[in-house]
Amino acid sequence: MSIIDISQAVVNRRAIKGFDPSHQLTQEEKKMLFDHAFLAPTAFNIQHWRVVDVTDRKLRAKIREQAWDQPQVTDASMLLVLCMDLNAWRKNPERYWQGVPQEALDFILPKIHEYYDGKEQVQRDECMRSCGILAMSLMLLAQEMGYDSCPMDGFDYEAVGKLINLPQDHIIGMMVAIGKKVAEPYPRTGKLPMSEVLFENGF
Ligand SMILES: Cc1cc2nc3c(=O)[nH]c(=O)nc-3n(C[C@H](O)[C@H](O)[C@H](O)COP(=O)(O)O)c2cc1C
Repeated sequence: MSIIDISQAVVNRRAIKGFDPSHQLTQEEKKMLFDHAFLAPTAFNIQHWRVVDVTDRKLRAKIREQAWDQPQVTDASMLLVLCMDLNAWRKNPERYWQGVPQEALDFILPKIHEYYDGKEQVQRDECMRSCGILAMSLMLLAQEMGYDSCPMDGFDYEAVGKLINLPQDHIIGMMVAIGKKVAEPYPRTGKLPMSEVLFENGF
């Protein structure tokens, strides 16, 4: 893919609310989406995302009740709940560096421990960083495949956590709906001027 194709995907991606409820992604398409999305980077390669693909229509309806009745929850081809394992950094971290020379392992494993141990805010921040990167990867890949998406945090996190049996040491980062759009979004509005969001060498 050329640089132009990627910028096209970035430009074309919009938060879509109207999806075709009869459309399904094939298993091959889903595999391609996930195979590529999970190549996104994570600090220390801990890959702490745990994604719930909600295929059960009844569960989707229950989630919609907890998500301000937003139609994309039930109508999109896919509803992904992007969950994060707060403790992934300490669950056999050597598997994230399988195959590297022993001296590299001896360096990285204590570093991982030092970076996260006892630092709940750091653990949580890391989850949100990775979740954002994964979400954008999914949305751009969807774009490339001819689909659209909607990132979502308009829902009751606790209630949705209960509905998907979220493990105790996991958190939900956000949801992403993916599918075939049937309604065009409003033209982009309210974009801030570059001078308000971009700085050279500090504020
Ligand atoms: C973390 C996050 C949560 C969002 N939650 C919702 C949501 O619950 N429902 C919705 O319709 N749009 C949601 N949006 C979409 C934003 O409103 C949208 O991205 C923004 O207005 C810019 O529009 P655009 O994405 O079409 O350029 C969310 C976006 C982000 C990044």
